Amino acid sequence: MCGIVGYIGKNQALPILLDGLKRLEYRGYDSSGVAVKTADGVFSVKAVGRIVELEKKINSPNPSLEGGQINLDSRLRGNDKGNLLKGVNAGANTGIAHTRWATHGAPTEANAHPQTDCQGKIWLAHNGIIENYQELKIRLIAKGHKFTSQTDTEVIAHLLEDLYDGDLSRALIKVLKILKGAYGLALFHSDEPNKLFAAKFGSPLVLGLADGEIIVASDVSAIIRYTKQVIYLKDGEIAEISGQDFKIFDADNKQVNKNIDQIEWDSEAAEKGGWPHFMLKEIFEQPKSIANSIRGRYVAEAGRAKLGGLESAAERIRGIKKIIIASCGTARLAGLVGKYMIEEYAGIPCEVDYAHEFRYRKAILDGETALIAVSQSGETADTLAAVREAKEKGCLTLGIVNVVGSSIARATEAGVYSHSGPEIAVASTKAFTSQVAILCLLTVMFGRQRQMSLATGQRIISELASLPDKIKQVLALNDELKRIAEKYYQFKNFAFLGRKYNHPVAFEGALKLKEISYIHAEGFAAGELKHGPIAMIDENFPSFYIAPVDSVYEKNYSNMQEIKARGGKIIAITTAGDEKIKEVADEVIYIPKTLEMLTPILTAVPSQLFAYHMAMLNGRDVDKPRNLAKSVTVE
Ligand code: AGP
Repeated sequence: MCGIVGYIGKNQALPILLDGLKRLEYRGYDSSGVAVKTADGVFSVKAVGRIVELEKKINSPNPSLEGGQINLDSRLRGNDKGNLLKGVNAGANTGIAHTRWATHGAPTEANAHPQTDCQGKIWLAHNGIIENYQELKIRLIAKGHKFTSQTDTEVIAHLLEDLYDGDLSRALIKVLKILKGAYGLALFHSDEPNKLFAAKFGSPLVLGLADGEIIVASDVSAIIRYTKQVIYLKDGEIAEISGQDFKIFDADNKQVNKNIDQIEWDSEAAEKGGWPHFMLKEIFEQPKSIANSIRGRYVAEAGRAKLGGLESAAERIRGIKKIIIASCGTARLAGLVGKYMIEEYAGIPCEVDYAHEFRYRKAILDGETALIAVSQSGETADTLAAVREAKEKGCLTLGIVNVVGSSIARATEAGVYSHSGPEIAVASTKAFTSQVAILCLLTVMFGRQRQMSLATGQRIISELASLPDKIKQVLALNDELKRIAEKYYQFKNFAFLGRKYNHPVAFEGALKLKEISYIHAEGFAAGELKHGPIAMIDENFPSFYIAPVDSVYEKNYSNMQEIKARGGKIIAITTAGDEKIKEVADEVIYIPKTLEMLTPILTAVPSQLFAYHMAMLNGRDVDKPRNLAKSVTVE
C-alpha cells in the first residue's frame, strides 16, 4: 500500500532515493518524503501529493521557507539551493524515502513518512499497519514523548527512542516484539554512522545488492536499475546494513544466511518505453505476456500441462476433491473464469470467494481441499490471510502469483508464477489474462489426472498457444474502441453483461471502467437482468455486452432484445462473422473465434481498451487513479 526505499553505499543517497520513489509511486501516491543522513544532521523534506511535489520542494531555493520539514544543522539551514543540496550530498550516502497511501491520518506533511522521534535522531519509513499503536502511544505520551503526527508509524520511532541504549539493532529487536500488526521498515539513527536497518513482518521488503551499495525497497522495481541480485526478507527478519556489508537476523536474533535471488526481468520492462501510460503499454503487452505465461508449460502432442511449480504437489493434487479460489478484485474475477474451466474440464467442484469474506465464513476445509490464491502482487493482505487460514485447516495451498518472492508465493505450498512481467498500472490488465491462461493450464493438469481425454487436452493446449496472435487481432481494434468511447464518455452509468465464462469478464470490465474513469459501472450475470437491474435501463444507461457466439449466445441475444426494447444502447463484443447481432447492438466489436473457455482472454481486451479511452476522455490519471494503490497490503 506504500512504497519504501532505503539506500546506503558509495553514492549520494538523495538522487537514488528519489528515483526509487518514482518507481514505487504506483504503490501509493498521496504524500511522500525523504530523510538523508548528512555530516551535519538529517536532511528531511516531505510533501503532499505526487513525488514531483517532493522534488519541487527539495529543489526550491530554500525548502525551509517552503514550509518543508527541514531538520538540518544550522550550518546547512538557510543556505542557497546550491549549498543546501551540496551540503546534503556531500557524503550523504545513507537515507530512506517513502511514498504513502494514507491509512492513519490524512495525507499531510506531518503524516508523511519518514517519521522521527522527539530528538529527530531515529528516522523510519513504514509500510503496513500497527494494530496496537493507540495503547502504545498513550503509554509513550505518559512518559513525556511528544507526537507530531496522527500515524501509527510514529509510535515505532518513539518506542525505539524509549528503548535506545546506543545500539539501534538491540532496540529494534525489543520493539518488534512489542508491535502487533504488519510492517516493512527502513530506518537509521543519526548517531550511528554508515548504518541502515530494515525489518519485515507482513509487508514486503527486498534488499538489492549492487556494487558498493545496497538498496532496500518494497519491491524490485526500485532496485532493478542498479542490480538484479536480491534478497527477499522473510517475516520476523531484520537486516543490519553498512556499506555493502549486511547481516540478517531472525526473530530470535540469530544471524541467518540467505539465498541471493536473481530478478528475472530487465529494467526496461518497468519503464513506459514511449507509451503514454503504463496501462496502455501493459494492454498491448498481452500477446507477449500470454506467450511468456504459457511458454514451456505444456506438451502439445501429449495434451498435457507441465507446471514445474506444482510438481512437488502433484500427488496431493491427484487426491483433491474440492477447490476454493480465494482472491480479491481482478484476481478473483480471473478465478471465477477458472471455476467454469475446472468444473467443466477437470470435474472438480470449485468455489470462488472474496478472500476478505473467506476468512469469516465457516468454509468446510480438509486435506482433500485445495485453496488457490490468485494474486498479481502476491502481497494482498486479505488473500495472504486466506492462505494462512486454509493452511491451518490442512488444505493444500497453491498460488498463481506474478511477483517473484512475494509473501503469497512464499506462503503457499506450491504454485505457478504468472511471468506477466511487472504490472505497474494500478488497473490490472495483462495480469488478468495471464491468470486465466494459467488457470487453463492448471485445468488441463487436473483434468488429465482425471477424466480429460488426450484429444481434449490437445485441443485446449493448441488453442491456448494460438491466443497471442489472436490477441493481436483484437488490439488492432484500438481505434474502434476509442471511437466508441468518444460517443459514450459523458454517460454516467454503465451496465456490463455476460453469461457463463464471460460473466466474470462483465464484472472485470465494470471494475476497469469505474476504477480509472470514476464512472459508475456495474457488472451483471446477464440472466439476472430481469430480476431487477433492467429497471435501470433506458437511453441514459448503456450496456457493454459480452456475447461471443458460444453455448449461451441465444440467451444473450434475448437479453439484448430486452435492453433494446427499453431504449438501452448496446456496445456488443461478439465473434467474427456474427451478423445477426447488428440487429440489436448499436456498436459491435469482433473477436476471433476460439474455444468458449478461452473467450475471456479475448473479450477482456476490448473492455480494457474501452475503459482506458473513457478515462482519458474524462481527463483521469489512468495509471494512478484517485484513492487507489497497486497493492492492498492492509486488511
Ligand atoms: C484491479 O484492477 C485492481 N487494481 C484490484 O482489484 C486488484 O486486482 C486487487 O487489489 C488484487 O490485487 P492482487 O492481484 O495483487 O492480489
